Parts: sequence; structure tokens; C-alpha cells
Amino acid sequence: MESKLFSPLQIRGVTLKNRIVLSPMLQYCADNGHVNDWHLMHYGKFAAGGAGLVFVESTKVDPRGCSTPRDLGLWKDEFVAPLKRITDLIKRNGAVAGIQLGHSGRKARRSVPWEGRVPMANCPGVDHGEEWELIAPSAVAFSERYAVPRAMTHDDIQEAMANWGQAARRAHEAGFDVLELHGAHGYLIHQFLSPVANQRTDEYGGTPEKRMRFAIEVVREVRKFWPDEKPLFLRASAVDEAGWSIEDSVAVARVLKTHGIDVIDCSAGGMSEANASEITPNYGYQVDYARRIKAGADIKTMAVGMIIHADQAEEIIRSDGADLAALGREFLHNPNWPIDAAQKLGIEAPFKGVSRAYGYWLEKRAANKIGIVSSTWQRGINGG
Ligand SMILES: Cc1cc2nc3c(=O)[nH]c(=O)nc-3n(C[C@H](O)[C@H](O)[C@H](O)COP(=O)(O)O)c2cc1C
Repeated sequence: MESKLFSPLQIRGVTLKNRIVLSPMLQYCADNGHVNDWHLMHYGKFAAGGAGLVFVESTKVDPRGCSTPRDLGLWKDEFVAPLKRITDLIKRNGAVAGIQLGHSGRKARRSVPWEGRVPMANCPGVDHGEEWELIAPSAVAFSERYAVPRAMTHDDIQEAMANWGQAARRAHEAGFDVLELHGAHGYLIHQFLSPVANQRTDEYGGTPEKRMRFAIEVVREVRKFWPDEKPLFLRASAVDEAGWSIEDSVAVARVLKTHGIDVIDCSAGGMSEANASEITPNYGYQVDYARRIKAGADIKTMAVGMIIHADQAEEIIRSDGADLAALGREFLHNPNWPIDAAQKLGIEAPFKGVSRAYGYWLEKRAANKIGIVSSTWQRGINGG
């Protein structure tokens, strides 16, 4: 039986060699928005490991939108050239390079996870760090622990549009071929969608259509600078702990598709700290959202969330649960997950496309029945 997980997927002018995606994951180690050698090593290894699409983490369009002082940035042209080293490396290793653009709104300005994700007052030493102001649709704090943000004016909204558009232009110039807008996890776009975070009474708040307006305008602005032949994804919280439902997400997906979104990346939650336990991660816990949005809005979807096993991912794609399977922590555990999955699924020539520096030896390892090293081969290694 032919694998669906390892079948190519064309979206607009871009073809992914398989359906396996590195989910965007903040590394919290940027230097004032800039990439460094960690990022080069980190992203390169997933491409070398056989992923079809490697997403660079949530990269901020405005320094005020950084979750932490260690987020990556695309708010200045000087970020482009260093990022190009990463896209070159990803492409040289046979994967498509993607990047997620984000703005954390009222959830910005926190310490990194291993320092407790504590809301901070300011952060000298990074762009806008001294006078780091939180902006959001309304002056409503995320929780009691968080500062009350300033409600965005019309000028702020226009400035935000320009920031998303310019960041998309820079992503294109840096060589990315897939762009994802972060519209999930309680961040700025999700804040505008939510009746809890968005209590505006102007044309950006109130009815579902008005709350959707910010997202639509971001997509339209980004599409002005992001070429037609390149795919545009949106990560959505398909449901959240503050009343957002799968039906709401299907409605948003239907509308955003008409403005140029090609794929909905289906995550969940992030809107309420108090009710966070309503969404409990377990095996494939968000796959059904991807399935329902795909069917309900007739749009491609990406499933994410505790996708662990090769046969699990294969079944998701085969049963039309989603078009793509994104892995986060499992990929951190094993950057060669696709190579391993190809063997487990019995793919013909599982090492095809893997750099010879690895593929040559892994093929021998497999021929030797995994881990049972013959003495002849051992001599071959030692002698080599
Ligand atoms: C270290 C880490 C950083 C993350 N950063 C991001 C991010 O930048 N953008 C995002 O949308 N999700 C982020 N996530 C969520 C992951 O993309 C993914 O949706 C989540 O971990 C569930 O998938 P998994 O069970 O395969 O890890 C992050 C998760 C982890 C573990």
C-alpha cells in the first residue's frame, strides 16, 4: 500500500516532498531579534532528517509583540540576510522553508518558559525594551497577573497592518516559500476574534463579522507582499477556553480562504489562564479539529498536537483528517523522525533524499537489522 504521509503535496507553486512538518517552536534564544548559530543548527537538522516543510518559530512583526525578549524578529530589514542562511540550509537539505509571523498583543513581555513565563515590566537591551508597551484590541488584561494593555487606536491598527505586510515582504526576501500567520494561542489576531479579549464598539468589534475584520485585513495586507505562487497558512485555535467553538473556526476559515489563506493549521486554546485545563493534551487531541475544519470549510488543514507514531500520522492523512501532519516535541526528541517513519511504514528506498553523509550509513545499519552489527561490518567501520 502506498504511503499518503510520504506522498508529495502541491500548494500553489510550491511542492512539499511529503506531509511531515516541523511545527513552529520558539527557541527563546534570539539576540535582540536576530538568529544565531543555535537556530542554524536547530532548523538544519530537521531538514536533514527528512521533513517536507520546516517552520521557523513565531517571528515577530513588531518588537512590542514579542512574547519574550528572546523572540526572533522581522520588524527591520537587517533581519533578512542572517535568516537567508537558514533558508539556504533548509533548502539544500531538501525541505521547504516556512516561517510563522506573530504578534503576542496583551500576552507579550514575559520571561522565557524556564524562568517561569512571568509578566515583565520592561526589558532594557532589546528594541522597545525600555518603554515596552502592551497593545491589544481592548484594555483587558489576559489575567490578574498580567498588565492591562492599551487599546489600539485606528492609527495603531493601520501601523499593525503595515508591520505584517513588511514582515511578509522580508520573509519572501529571506527565501521562505511558506508563510504562516499566528492566529492562535490567545495572541493578537486571536484576541481580535475573541469576544472576551475584544470589547470594541467600532468596526473591529461586536459581531463575529466585525471581530473577523482585523484578521481579514492582515491577510489582505500580507497577500500584497507575499507572492501569489507561495502558500499562506493560518494557525488557528480551533476552540478555546473562553467560548470559541469549532463552528466559529469553520466560519473564519471559509472567509479567510476567499482572501488568500490556503491551509488552516489547527491548534487550540490560549485565551484563558483560569480555564486552561479545559483543553487537555493527549494522543492526537487536536486532529478532530483539523478534520472538521477541512470538511466544513473545504480547505486544506494541518493537524498538530501529540502526533507521535508513523502509523498514527499515516492514518491522519489517509483518512482525510488533514493534509499535513505537524510535529513539535516528538521532533525535538528525534530530528530524524521522517527517516524512522519511512522505514516503519515500509517505504521503498527510505533513505532516498537523505544526505549521503547519513543515508549511506543508515542504509547499512538497516541492512544489518538495526543495531545488530556484524563483525565484518564492524571491521569495515573500524578500518574506514
Ligand atoms: C518549545 C515550544 C515552542 C513553541 N513555540 C510555538 C510557536 O512559536 N508558535 C506556535 O504556534 N506554537 C508553538 N508551540 C506549539 C507547537 O507548535 C505545537 O503546536 C505543540 O507543541 C503541540 O504539538 P506537539 O504535541 O507535537 O509538541 C511551541 C511548543 C513548544 C514545545
